[in-house]
Amino acid sequence: MFVVCVVPSSSLSRRFVRIGPYVLSNALVVAPMAGVTDRPFRQLCKRLSAGYAISEMVGADPRLRHTEKSRRRLDHRGEFPPTAVQIAGADPRMLADAARYNVARGAQVIDINMGCPAKKVCNVAAGSALLSNEPLAEAIVAAVVAAVDVPVTLKIRTGPTLETRNAMAIARMAERAGVAALAVHGRTRACAFVGAVDYETIRAVKATVRIPVIANGDIDSPRRARDVLALTGADGLMIGRAAQGRPWIFREIEHFLATGEELPAPTVAEARALIIEHLDDHYAFHGEDVGVRTARKHLGWYTESLAGGALFRSEVNVAQTSVDQVAIVERYFDGLAAESERLIYETKYAHSAAVRALPHTQRMPIQNRAPWVGEALAA
Ligand SMILES: Cc1cc2nc3c(=O)[nH]c(=O)nc-3n(C[C@H](O)[C@H](O)[C@H](O)COP(=O)(O)O)c2cc1C
Repeated sequence: MFVVCVVPSSSLSRRFVRIGPYVLSNALVVAPMAGVTDRPFRQLCKRLSAGYAISEMVGADPRLRHTEKSRRRLDHRGEFPPTAVQIAGADPRMLADAARYNVARGAQVIDINMGCPAKKVCNVAAGSALLSNEPLAEAIVAAVVAAVDVPVTLKIRTGPTLETRNAMAIARMAERAGVAALAVHGRTRACAFVGAVDYETIRAVKATVRIPVIANGDIDSPRRARDVLALTGADGLMIGRAAQGRPWIFREIEHFLATGEELPAPTVAEARALIIEHLDDHYAFHGEDVGVRTARKHLGWYTESLAGGALFRSEVNVAQTSVDQVAIVERYFDGLAAESERLIYETKYAHSAAVRALPHTQRMPIQNRAPWVGEALAA
């Protein structure tokens, strides 16, 4: 049990994270999320004060490289540096090769996925399954670090199970092997996304190594961000689900850490403009057909806790073209603007614990789920 000591906010705001030669503009990181953190979304979060973002994972298997999906995941054009690509796999040589391949295509940092609990990943003993095989985890880290001359970072969980938490051993191994920074999701592989986040183990990891440690798990408000920094002593914070539909959370947290004051919610006019810019970038990146289909989940998140959101979604989810989708978004936000100047969430935060505890199927229409999400959340 820790006592939260309230560190003066100004000292928190002065934190900086160095990843190899890169000093991040702040300590707030967009978590890698398959099917979510594509280039348009990463760029949007960076514009809204995220200091750093990691791409969706790309499989190390070279046979997967030529799919349209992989091609898009390698596209970093226009993204604020440093661009970081996460690779996933279980074979050291394949991962080393994937690291070289991505660096040749513009990745400035390589992140290794040892945090993902999805069956699709873990069935081939990759992702967080590697935490159960420390020698293999070490061989992978050593092979990737040796393969590229850019910083290599690692994302882990606290261990395979609550009884076998080995994050400290993995962290020491990673530091010895030359890893530049470590992100720790404070749950075990077995816990998937269920149960309280174990910030104490993150704190223990931070106390064990000298490389930057980034705390991850359930950070969904500026106050929570401050408390997690104080509890863990971490160098940075990684935010995933709370940024879905609320990319301005990075700005809110940055402001709160710097001043101790909460920013008001965005104005409806600003949110409308940001969402439409996001949509335009999303369609340009994914193309009309895929773009219209995959934009639905973002629109679901944007309106999850807003008045009239359910009705909006029932309408926008059947729109078949980007022109129709944008027109419905404009109409909806114009209606909201007539009611209030700023966004009003039905819950204080769109992604409060209560909302996120709902089965995923209740949060958005089933046809909009990324297959990865279904597997991970069902695990
Ligand atoms: C939809 C979704 C996709 C994810 N994809 C990845 C991934 O590709 N690689 C990874 O390391 N973690 C992935 N994660 C885990 C997140 O990076 C993060 O560790 C987790 O969501 C906990 O942080 P949060 O509570 O801030 O969401 C994913 C999580 C979600 C919800």
